[in-house]
Amino acid sequence: MDYIVRGGNRLDGEIAVYGAKNCALALLGASVLTDDQIILHNCPVISDVENMLLLLRTMGKKVLRSGDTVVVSGGLNTTAAPKSVASLLRGSALILGGTVARYHCAELPLPGGCAIGARPMDIHLSGLEALGVTVEHTADAVYCTGVPKGAQFTLRFASVGATENLLCACALAEGESTLANCATEPEVAALELMLNEMGAEISGVGQSLLHIKGVARLHGADFTVIPDRIVAATYLSAAAATLGDVTVRDCVPTHLDAFLNVLGTRFNVKRYENAVRLRCDALPDGYGTVRTAPYPLFPTDMQSLLLSLAACSRGKTTVCETLFENRLEHNAEQLNKMGGDVIVKGNVATVHGRKLHGAEVSASDLRGGAGLTVAALCAEGMTKISGIEHVNRGYADLAGDLNSLGADIVVI
Ligand code: EPZ
Repeated sequence: MDYIVRGGNRLDGEIAVYGAKNCALALLGASVLTDDQIILHNCPVISDVENMLLLLRTMGKKVLRSGDTVVVSGGLNTTAAPKSVASLLRGSALILGGTVARYHCAELPLPGGCAIGARPMDIHLSGLEALGVTVEHTADAVYCTGVPKGAQFTLRFASVGATENLLCACALAEGESTLANCATEPEVAALELMLNEMGAEISGVGQSLLHIKGVARLHGADFTVIPDRIVAATYLSAAAATLGDVTVRDCVPTHLDAFLNVLGTRFNVKRYENAVRLRCDALPDGYGTVRTAPYPLFPTDMQSLLLSLAACSRGKTTVCETLFENRLEHNAEQLNKMGGDVIVKGNVATVHGRKLHGAEVSASDLRGGAGLTVAALCAEGMTKISGIEHVNRGYADLAGDLNSLGADIVVI
């Protein structure tokens, strides 16, 4: 699927944000911890979530969807995630901790690397071993057996997925656990809240040091997926790139703090209780130096948005990507096809803003595709973006949403 974007339109108006992909996937991963109903509201209709629901259904769970409400119930009839389905999304790894905790065995095809990096699972696996789980793996699958027992474990890096898997494993472990250097992303905190609603005993919600008292069983929950902060940042970036005036509703402004701290001094940004308005009167003279880092610092998932804004600004920006080893190169090359001046050395991109022009470019990952779409909105002329199936993994209808604000994007 491709986008044909005619740049130059000013974006104006209001748009609502839907549920966060990375929250929904974590909550669905945790649904294996109980046979009771897990009811998720505001669950986005995006391909990664649909593939996660397919995975759960294939493994035996009963899955129903009515609009943005999803109900998952029943038990697994296998603890081996089928490669054909698990390989459709990396988020499939998030059933590992819960499956081991509930069934004391699990087989997961290793999701492998992707366009942005190798993305190993060593922290997930060493954490499970610390809980007494036996972990064996071949080149393309991991096999876990044993009953998780409470333990102390420090994550060598505040990995989002590893934190989520280990939380699920500790929730049903025999005894008490302490997890240190945990990820504190809002999506992780949401999982902690839902687990506690299911009867888990997690203290330190939203913090990097978590104490978990294992319980014998967990029951169902009725929970609402938090708004997608990356989607919100995408809409705000589109406003910034087109000298627009856009209000993003149903978001959590504090989840955007690091992003708004970078944009806020360059645009007219107004925060409301659950909305943010951005008005752009003139392109800024660059964005200074921005480093990505774990929450609450600048999110790596917003890096490609910033790279595009920098490329069409009027000054210099330095972007340092500290989480993924290959999350700058591809978009730099694509932006340079559009007349951009983006030079990448190692994990640092030096950007000198230019007037961009339309070109044929390709998306190689989800957030990169969103970034290129933002760049195309401010480029002169027509841009063709291929690889939009990557974008559809995390956006329900990015073209339709941006067109509702005045963009001119045709999907072919
Ligand atoms: C989650 O991925 C998100 N995905 C990513 O969003 C996001 O970019 C990332 O967190 C960082 O915020 C979901 O939540 C489904 P990590 P995850 O474990 O859990 C290394 C998107 O577009 N690492 O925090 O895989 C890893 O290689 C996606 O929505 C290990 O070395 O990220 C990476 O360099 C992209 N060993 C860094 O840590 C491990 O065992 C961060 O990874 C685990 C991770």
